[in-house]
Amino acid sequence: MNTTSNIAVFASGAGTTLQTLIDEQLQHGYRVALVVTNRDCPAIARAQNAHIPTLLSKDWTEIDQALTQHDVQLVVLAGFLAIIPEWICHKWEKHIINIHPSLLPKHSGKGMYGVRVQEAVLAAGDTTAGCTVHYVSAEVDGGSIIAQTTVPVLPNDTPDTLSARVQQEEKRLLPRTIADIMQKVNCK
Ligand code: GAR
Repeated sequence: MNTTSNIAVFASGAGTTLQTLIDEQLQHGYRVALVVTNRDCPAIARAQNAHIPTLLSKDWTEIDQALTQHDVQLVVLAGFLAIIPEWICHKWEKHIINIHPSLLPKHSGKGMYGVRVQEAVLAAGDTTAGCTVHYVSAEVDGGSIIAQTTVPVLPNDTPDTLSARVQQEEKRLLPRTIADIMQKVNCK
């Protein structure tokens, strides 16, 4: 495996997923080379504490250039709440992945993020929930599925308790999936 595979992590919120990706980078053989945010958020401080370059931008030409400058081979969307423009999806096809807190194709699409997803799972009466890593395409949450993990929905679950259980699995699934992709795919 190429132990110097660079990833960029895009985040918009608390950045707990980013933190896991930073903490586990050595173990999984990738390097977080750049963190991109579209707004001021706690993820920035997490990157700075780990001495990782950050870019706060909504300018996709600037973001695209930064990815090239930092020799990024894989972009990982980890709670990034902006739509990726079509031209970026095409240019970086099969080099952008997303973690979504549902068993796609269930509970997907624009506006379906974070705890809202688990609210939808409970409202639908699902007995199983989970998370999905998928390639990013121009269709929101519509790219091909790479890996999924399921968790049970328990009788007394609230959106928050279910969300915590799903997020625990996300943090197991995502670093492993990145390592698998880096091993299997001849990235860019
Ligand atoms: C994660 O649970 C991720 O699955 C979700 O946002 C959370 C980010 O948390 N992403 C989506 O819902 C995308 N549709 P974090 O900011 O603490 O890493």
